Amino acid sequence: METVIKPIFRKKLFTISLLLTAAMGSAFIYQQKEWKAPASADSKKNPLTSDAGTLTAGKEVYVKECQSCHGKKGKGDGPSAKDLDIPAGDFTKAITQSQSDGALYWKVSEGRKPMPSFKKKLNETQIWQSVVYMRTLKQ
Ligand code: HEC
Repeated sequence: METVIKPIFRKKLFTISLLLTAAMGSAFIYQQKEWKAPASADSKKNPLTSDAGTLTAGKEVYVKECQSCHGKKGKGDGPSAKDLDIPAGDFTKAITQSQSDGALYWKVSEGRKPMPSFKKKLNETQIWQSVVYMRTLKQ
């Protein structure tokens, strides 16, 4: 069948398929389907335990830096959430809670638009404290 397609038409087909691929690619990026931490992040060990001091400190970090988007209970319904292009997720759910501490640490450090990166704003201990606090938001 292919041999009967005229070369000029084949060129058009090629262009069309390129355009389609590009459109699908950008749709995928726009949707930001899944945000996966690299596998190497899992091996980073949480140096903290969920003792009272860590939880208090973690809550402080969370209220100051995260709650505006993620909401008081981590449901992604903070006051700034409505201005975001994409939902801020729901920390009470398994989709977040099933990730390793290292993966969550990596995500808070790196960020992904519209979520800011925190590796310059917070120190390592503060990021770990926020991860420990996030665990208390589990449903
Ligand atoms: C400006 C709003 C905003 C702020 C502030 C913010 N986030 Fe986010 N966060 C988001 C958005 C939006 C996503 C979803 C990103 C995506 O899926 O690409 C997200 C995703 C996450 C995820 C990934 C959840 C998952 O299920 O994979 C974690 C973890 C996270 N945020 C933690 C935090 C912590 C901890 C802080 C504070 C230190 C914080 N965020 C501050 C907007 C924000």
